[in-house]
Parts: sequence; structure tokens; C-alpha cells
Amino acid sequence: MGKILVQGGVPLHGRIRVKGSKNASLPIIAAAMLTDEQVVIEDVPDLLDVRTMINVLRSLGVEASYNPHTETVKVCARRVKYSQPPPQLIQQMRASFLVLGPMLSRKKQVRLTLPGGCAIGARPVDLHLKGLTALGARFTIDQGLIVAETEGLRGGYIYLDYPSVGATENIIMAAAAAPGATTLENAATEPEIVDLANFINSMGGRISGAGTSSIRIEGVEEFHGTRYTVIPDRIEAGTLLLAGAITGGEITVENVVPEHLKSLLAKLRETGALVEEIGSSTLRAGSIGRTAAVDLKTLPYPGFPTDLQPQFMALLCTSRGTSMVTETVFENRFQHVSELVRMGARIQIDGNHAIIQGQPYLTGAPVRAADLRAAAALLLAALGARGVTEISGAVHLWRGYSGLEERLQKVGARIQVVSAPDCQKREQRSC
Ligand code: EPZ
Repeated sequence: MGKILVQGGVPLHGRIRVKGSKNASLPIIAAAMLTDEQVVIEDVPDLLDVRTMINVLRSLGVEASYNPHTETVKVCARRVKYSQPPPQLIQQMRASFLVLGPMLSRKKQVRLTLPGGCAIGARPVDLHLKGLTALGARFTIDQGLIVAETEGLRGGYIYLDYPSVGATENIIMAAAAAPGATTLENAATEPEIVDLANFINSMGGRISGAGTSSIRIEGVEEFHGTRYTVIPDRIEAGTLLLAGAITGGEITVENVVPEHLKSLLAKLRETGALVEEIGSSTLRAGSIGRTAAVDLKTLPYPGFPTDLQPQFMALLCTSRGTSMVTETVFENRFQHVSELVRMGARIQIDGNHAIIQGQPYLTGAPVRAADLRAAAALLLAALGARGVTEISGAVHLWRGYSGLEERLQKVGARIQVVSAPDCQKREQRSC
């Protein structure tokens, strides 16, 4: 589904503006259901996943729309008429499970299909359910459907066994409207959590401690409408900076929060790549010649983000020396390895470690993307490779990057979209 051709070997030079964060937009759109007043969300990127989340809200009888020209979402959940989104929408995009928290604050019963696993792992939701149970929800499984019921949520104490981003988000949204105080310990600390808390507080919520592992939520009765701008996408920013380093050029990214990229910038500097902070919201990265091999381990924020692991591995494929990449967040996030090997990379997988022997260069080949960040990794590898690469499964790219081809073309990339998916027929599952 979706194919692009890339003519590699061209150093990229220029400035690219980073779009709003996909992983902040999705929970914030779901949280807009906490109020029955109009909510306007700005800087929301035009992504397949954003369209899917809008469709999920619409399937619940909520007024929701997206304007691609202004990159603005409007939501008015005056009424949440239905309590079960169509299973195929939940299956299509795991993040649609994030409607559970806000729906439990509006409905006594919610029926959601279990979001299946995907290319990068089983993706269970046990931590979501455990946290919401502590707030007064009861769960039963009925023929693959999760049936959530509550007489009314109330504040509680939750300790997350793992700092799950999605579980933290679902619990914050449910607790925001639950009478009483909720303490959430071992919470995820990602910037997208802070953005969600700031959004809910802009509607009258009372959340403190977001961004730390201990979050306190005071339930409030009523939320009012708001106009909110989501944070820039740190993963897109990191992907673009790596494009500068991989192609031996220099990319300047605007509209970034350097603080959100500290681990990437440190790791890039360790490879000898050129990394500059040009101002409070502008970064530049590039390279002259091959970068040095480094070891990399993904961890929850502020550790190195798993969502940049495939892209960074693409750089290490042509580094001088041997690197080891350790993936600790997902159990199966090496789908891009076999495809990079087709391009001449020398990579061996041993459990959750990948050992990469850097080669002087990669060569173009037909490759297939299995998930969103694998697609980004293959695009970066293709941009730096000699010859032409054909990337199929490019639909994954369009889930997480809006207009990326055009923006890269403007800085010298030779990319041709051979076939784009028909928006209506997209069935691929996204993570
Ligand atoms: C969010 O996924 C992001 N998605 C992912 O980005 C990101 O990779 C991930 O956080 C980690 O940072 C969105 O924000 C929409 P988790 P999420 O719950 O919430 C296990 C991308 O490319 N776990 O923190 O699903 C889980 O299996 C996507 O943009 C449980 O065991 O991530 C995984 O191993 C990919 N039980 C680990 O925790 C649970 O109940 C991290 O998952 C929940 C999670």
C-alpha cells in the first residue's frame, strides 16, 4: 500500500519546519470529549492517524472535523451518543484506545474492541485497565470486546508497573473528571504527557506533576471549551536531523523544542556528526564523511526514544566501526533490519540487541516498510544510499509524517511517489 522511489546519494541542505506532534495530537483530540463546549486544536498535522481519530469521535456521535489548510481540529462533544466505536477503527489504529478514558467520564458503559498487536509488538492494555479499575471502572471481556462499566469514577491511587505512555494518558483523562484526588505513580514523563495535561488544564482541569513520574489529578465537575496549540513533533524533528547526517549534508529544523531532543542530540554528537542549537527553537545537524559507530539503548523518556531507534540505526549502517542497538521498550522493533540488509547493511540480531558493522555505503534496493518508523528508517537509508530504492508499504509513512516527501524535495531529496493509498480503502494497522 503506497510506493515511493528514492534516488540516493544527494547531500541534503536547507531548512525544514517541523509539524505539530502526532503523539500529542491523538490523546488531546480524545480528551476534547471531556467538555461539551467547542474545542479548537491547532498545529495538528494532516496525518492518516489524525483522520482516523476524528472518525472515531464521529462514530460516537461527537462533532469533530479537521481543516488541512489551517491544520486545525474542531471538536464539540455536546453529546456522546454512542458507546462503541466500530471495531475496525480501533483495530486500524491502536491510539484510538485512548477514547476509553474520556468516554468513561461521560458514559456508564463503554464497549471497545481490544486493540490488536502490530508490527512492533503485542501491545497489551493491561496497565490501562488496571489503572482505570482503581478509579472505579469494572471490565469484562465479551467476544473480543472490552466492556467497561462504572457507577461513576472517583479518585484513587495508581502505581504503574511500567511507565506506559498510553496508560498514563487514559488514566489522566479519566481521573480529570473523577471526583476526588488521584495520585499516579511511575507515570510516563514524555513531553506528550505534559502537553495533554496542559491541554486539560486549559479546559479547567487541575493536573500537577505532569512530566515527572508522580502526577496528581484533582477531579473537576465541569470543563469549558479552549483553543490549544500542540507541541512540535520531536520524533519528526529527530528524523529530519538524521537526514542531514545520513546524506552528508546539513538540515536546519525550525519549530522544535531542543529540550525534548536531548538524548538524540547527545547521541548524534557522540557519532561526530555536526549538531548545533541555533536558537530557542531551531537545530541544525549534518556530517562530513562517515560518522563513528556508537552503542544505543532505547528507554522511556528522557532516555533515547524507541521511535527514533530505526532511523538512528539507518545512520549506523554506514558508520565507521561496529555499533550495538538495544531495544528495551518493544519486543519486536527490528522489522527494518531485514530491509536494511537488502541494501547492503551488515546487521545481526541477538534477542533485543542488533549488532551493526558499518559499511562504506548502502546501495538502493526494493524494500518494504512494516511500520511507521521502519518506513522512516528506510527512507533515510535510501536518501544516503547509492542508486535507486523502491519503498513499498509507504502508507505507514503517511500515518506519521505529513507532506514529508515535499519538504525533503525542497532541500534536495529526489523522491517520487509512485502510488499513494486510496484514503477510503486503508486497512493497514498502525502502531
Ligand atoms: C506510545 O505508544 C506512542 N504512540 C508510541 O509511538 C511510542 O513508541 C510509545 O508510546 C513509547 O514511547 C502514541 O503516543 C500514539 P506504551 P503506547 O504504552 O502508549 C507495554 C509511533 O511510532 N505495555 O508506553 O502504546 C507495551 O507493550 C508510536 O509514533 C504493557 O505491557 O506505548 C510496550 O512494550 C509507536 N501494558 C511498552 O509497554 C500496557 O497496558 C511501552 O508501551 C501498555 C503498554
